[in-house]
Amino acid sequence: MANRVALVTGGNGGIGTEVCKQLAAAGYRVVTTCVNAEKENIQGWVDERREEGYDIGWVECDVADFDSCAEMARKVEAREGPVEVLVNLAGITADAFLHKMDLDSWNAVINVNLNSAFNVTRQFIDGMRERGFGRIVNISSVNGQSGQFGQTNYSAAKAGIHGFTMAVAKEGARKNITANTVSPGYVRTSMTDAIPEEVRNGIIANVPAGRIGEPDEVARVVVFLAADESGYINGANVPVNGGLFTSF
Ligand code: CAA
Repeated sequence: MANRVALVTGGNGGIGTEVCKQLAAAGYRVVTTCVNAEKENIQGWVDERREEGYDIGWVECDVADFDSCAEMARKVEAREGPVEVLVNLAGITADAFLHKMDLDSWNAVINVNLNSAFNVTRQFIDGMRERGFGRIVNISSVNGQSGQFGQTNYSAAKAGIHGFTMAVAKEGARKNITANTVSPGYVRTSMTDAIPEEVRNGIIANVPAGRIGEPDEVARVVVFLAADESGYINGANVPVNGGLFTSF
């Protein structure tokens, strides 16, 4: 596994940073995507990781745009070699009750959180099939399993992600390609920081664990699913939500 290349979309966000760090610690050569290197100060992020002992590459890419993803894939594979582990993690929220939601908020969330899975995975699936190896981990959400106030767009996209996972899992199984979903609950990130404090406190009060989750608690599941040895785990949806939502 030491030499495998792992691509993490939106790896410079709250959960993404931990995913990149833990994959790097496990021996992968890790590359993150970012939408706008300058705005996101990606070099500063890379430097911070280096100070912590992690060497992580980056590439610009708009996961909502198929051509941008094709260009990104060409660059990454020319520079690093074939991508064998793919973590589809980039996501946004644009929360509003359905009766207040505009078309732009709907489309933005569906494009970044759901269409991205096609846009990115499509670039790498041929290579994975040819080489007979691939690990795809798609990040969904508890709110794709349960629905959430103000998140018709996000809940729809995140539920769709697991449908995508299950289909890719079946298609890839004979080629040693697995696809699994990880569904985090409420985790300490800028996304949950943006929830009005009173609402957030109310949500956390209902988490059986009685606390918010931490990004590293999600990342460890991603790394587990990415491992060579996890080849018989395929099409699963692993909740990491403190017991907030459980299902068979
Ligand atoms: N549970 C119960 N009631 C809720 C609620 C919730 N989660 N969210 C909103 N409500 C209720 C409010 O308490 C309020 O009730 P009253 O009218 O009785 O006071 C009513 O709905 C209207 O709420 P707001 O005044 O807040 O209405 P708004 O239009 O300004 O905003 C909202 C609505 C966008 C849904 C806002 O409440 C909100 O941002 N809620 C949080 C949504 C959320 O959980 N987002 C998750 C973001 S993190 C993430 O997505 C990561 C992940 O994967 C888990």
